Amino acid sequence: MNKIFQFGEKDILGRVISVDTATAVIEIDDLEKLRCMQVNRLVALESNAGQHLIGLIEKITRKAIDALLEGKENDAEVVEQNLVRISLIGTLFDKRGTHENVFTRTVESVPRINAACFPVEGESLTRFMQVIAQVAQDDLKKSLLIGNYTLDERAEAYLHGDRFFQRHAVVVGSTGSGKSWTTARLLEQVANLPQGNAIVFDIHGEYNTMQADGFRHFRIAGSSDLEKKTSLDDGVLYLPYWLLSYEALVSMLVDRSDQNAPNQAMIMSRAIIKAKQKSLENAGQKEIIENFTIDSPVPFNILDVEAELNSINTEMVTGSSCRDKQGDFHGKLSRLIARLEAKISDRRLGFLFKPPTETSAFEWLNEFATVLIAGRADQKDGKGGVKIIDFSEVPSDILPLMVSLIAKLAFSIHQWQPSNKRHPIALFCDEAHLYIPDTNNTDAAGEVSVDIFERIAKEGRKYGVGLVVISQRPSEVNKTVLSQCNNLLAMRLTNGEDQSVIKKLLPDSLGGFGDVLPILDIGEALIVGDASLLPSRIRIKEPSFEPSSATIPFWKKWSDDIKIGGVSDAVNNWRRQSMKRT
Ligand SMILES: Nc1ncnc2c1ncn2[C@@H]1O[C@H](COP(=O)(O)OP(=O)(O)OP(=O)(O)O)[C@@H](O)[C@H]1O
Ligand SMILES: [Mg+2]
Repeated sequence: MNKIFQFGEKDILGRVISVDTATAVIEIDDLEKLRCMQVNRLVALESNAGQHLIGLIEKITRKAIDALLEGKENDAEVVEQNLVRISLIGTLFDKRGTHENVFTRTVESVPRINAACFPVEGESLTRFMQVIAQVAQDDLKKSLLIGNYTLDERAEAYLHGDRFFQRHAVVVGSTGSGKSWTTARLLEQVANLPQGNAIVFDIHGEYNTMQADGFRHFRIAGSSDLEKKTSLDDGVLYLPYWLLSYEALVSMLVDRSDQNAPNQAMIMSRAIIKAKQKSLENAGQKEIIENFTIDSPVPFNILDVEAELNSINTEMVTGSSCRDKQGDFHGKLSRLIARLEAKISDRRLGFLFKPPTETSAFEWLNEFATVLIAGRADQKDGKGGVKIIDFSEVPSDILPLMVSLIAKLAFSIHQWQPSNKRHPIALFCDEAHLYIPDTNNTDAAGEVSVDIFERIAKEGRKYGVGLVVISQRPSEVNKTVLSQCNNLLAMRLTNGEDQSVIKKLLPDSLGGFGDVLPILDIGEALIVGDASLLPSRIRIKEPSFEPSSATIPFWKKWSDDIKIGGVSDAVNNWRRQSMKRT
């Protein structure tokens, strides 16, 4: 058998003097050996026969002990104690079942007092890392290859693809640290799988460089699309208002500070039910009429709602002395109606309130959901498991409503899908702080969005909906959602507040591991969680399609003696509320 560790007596670094459930403290006598030790390197501890415990060096201390206290009054010398704290991260079995050299993330036994501790470096490290890579490959034929370990650049780092998406993941890092590149690396591997399925909320239109059969690109219809006959096949998405939940419509139309807000919301709910009823009757959908609720995805005409509100707002009723008097809600809906009219006529919201007529047909939702939520095999052209949705032209005040509308659609479809037909899907949420904000610090639209993402974070695993939360400001992202993410990919993070949020997500025994956050290189990540065999520093491989997020070289641009551009294109696009497409 080819044992990967062959340690001898001379390799011993020191011996265990104290043990906890997940940490051990080693005392080292030889100062030379202490000097060779480095934080975050690996060590192996003697354990039961045929196995070694693997640990990560967390802290190295050298302290003087007062000789007097030690009861050595005559000894003028100060006694020194060299201590190394180690967090235990797994067990390496020489043989397990029929497999040789198996590494697991469980720590089944704790080290004994006086057990020997050995360094894992040089040849042993190379062999150990080979085992790590091998284990991942055996587990999954098509593994998720993310990069190389900083500890040993020759060793490739794999993630467990199932666990990564099942238990949600978060990718964080300061601006320019490499989040978008990492996301692109993940996306392209999903896209390469025959049944890969994902939706990307692309807030800055960075991922339009990813052009291959596995990808499909969409953008939300802008005001310049309204007159053109663009459709799903052109990659233009309309999100008709009737897809919004009641809560979302209220957050958009009712001003919470208005003293009539509760009445307005109540009357709107009745008007919407009535409008849905009417459209169901027109379509002859008898079965649905009996069971629909206000949130059922039933197309209705917003003008019916407007007319109903207007009639209640001007209603006169017969009073006690047979004289006409104003109805209960007379004049109380004026502001609601004004807001509704303003929204309907706002061209920026054309994708919501002025969708093409075919979107109000009953069959349309089926087609829409197929294109967005179903896998590649279900598409007409057999392309596009990864759907990238460009939100760069959506007004920022309604971004949360629109992103969450699509997330909700994905979740609802999966919830109502018979379990044997569920096609797991991952939602990549770039710039998540914009639409999954911390609850203390948000408006009504943000709350609607947070509700949906919290629900997915808590229950998505059961229905096959995974989240990948990507943000440069983890401290501004909703804490419930973050705490449900079991995989952490942290890139360089300089802000103290953000660092402390991320350190809290690390397991207790790895708390110190977070100290490298500010000193990571660009494109380097700390990976901890269910999906990674070793909590480790990894250099992320460059994606083959680089996102168009390049850092602009200020000084170079300023130094070149070439004219750069002028502003007339920008002014024009700003007026048209749309980037020129070539
Ligand atoms: N893995 C990598 N290897 C080499 N260079 C990288 C890597 N990742 C990122 N970079 C470099 O860093 C630049 C910025 O990366 P990226 O756009 O991914 O940052 P970001 O974290 O998404 O920033 P922001 O928060 O502003 O969106 C890239 O243009 C690229 O030059
Ligand atoms: Mg980015």
